[in-house]
Amino acid sequence: MNLIDTINTDYLPKHIAIIMDGNGRWAKQKGLLRSIGHENGTKSVRETVESSAQLGVENLTLYAFSTENWNRPKLEVQTLMKLLVSSLKKEIKTLQENDIRLQAIGCLESLPKKAHKELLEVIEKTKDNKRMCLTLALSYGSREELINTIKQISLKVKNNIISIENIDESVINEHLYTQNLPDVDLLIRTSGEQRISNFLLWQIAYAEFYFTKVLWPDFTKEHLYEAIIEYQKRERRFGKTSEQLH
Ligand code: FPP
Repeated sequence: MNLIDTINTDYLPKHIAIIMDGNGRWAKQKGLLRSIGHENGTKSVRETVESSAQLGVENLTLYAFSTENWNRPKLEVQTLMKLLVSSLKKEIKTLQENDIRLQAIGCLESLPKKAHKELLEVIEKTKDNKRMCLTLALSYGSREELINTIKQISLKVKNNIISIENIDESVINEHLYTQNLPDVDLLIRTSGEQRISNFLLWQIAYAEFYFTKVLWPDFTKEHLYEAIIEYQKRERRFGKTSEQLH
């Protein structure tokens, strides 16, 4: 039996988030430049995006570039931005064919002009697609997102649009970059690191974590299926006892 046949498609995670880590180590192991690692990482991005959509996952969020990544050597940042532009140009077809809507979260204004423009174009072209929402976290940091949220809500309090008593989880959710997305059900990180690295801190409150040693450029659809199968074996209690759930 194929791995995919063991997945219960009635109990898929509604939102999968992935920290794609290990491009640099993958390249180093092969005596190649880090940029080649990133380039090969884009193949895993395509395979993961396509297979998630085909399986029926409704939301996939990929950590493509963090606010901290701006501190990498200039050449590496340039490579990543170039890869973003070329991938957007190339993959618009994949997105349309699979009915995938693209959106982006993060401080998008800080992206190079060309990348920003290309991104907005693909977002616009795919805006009516329905099958899956693909969110790229670009120049994204969760603390920055939370600061932005707090500022927006504070301003509304100051202008008497919201009263302090009415601030609850839904108000916070509505002011996050991820306002249209459900909470993360399954968070995957590749390359053996077991950290969250400032990714979706609010949204992962009840997520299942799945860490794999596989380096991102080696990550295939079978690895994705394995993560989903593991997720389906776990009991999600949301603070309740096992007896209350059954
Ligand atoms: C982590 O590997 C990966 C990144 C910093 C960026 C992820 C980018 C891609 C997969 C390619 C471009 C993406 C898109 C959406 C076009 P690392 O460099 O931190 O690896 P290391 O920890 O082994 O050094």
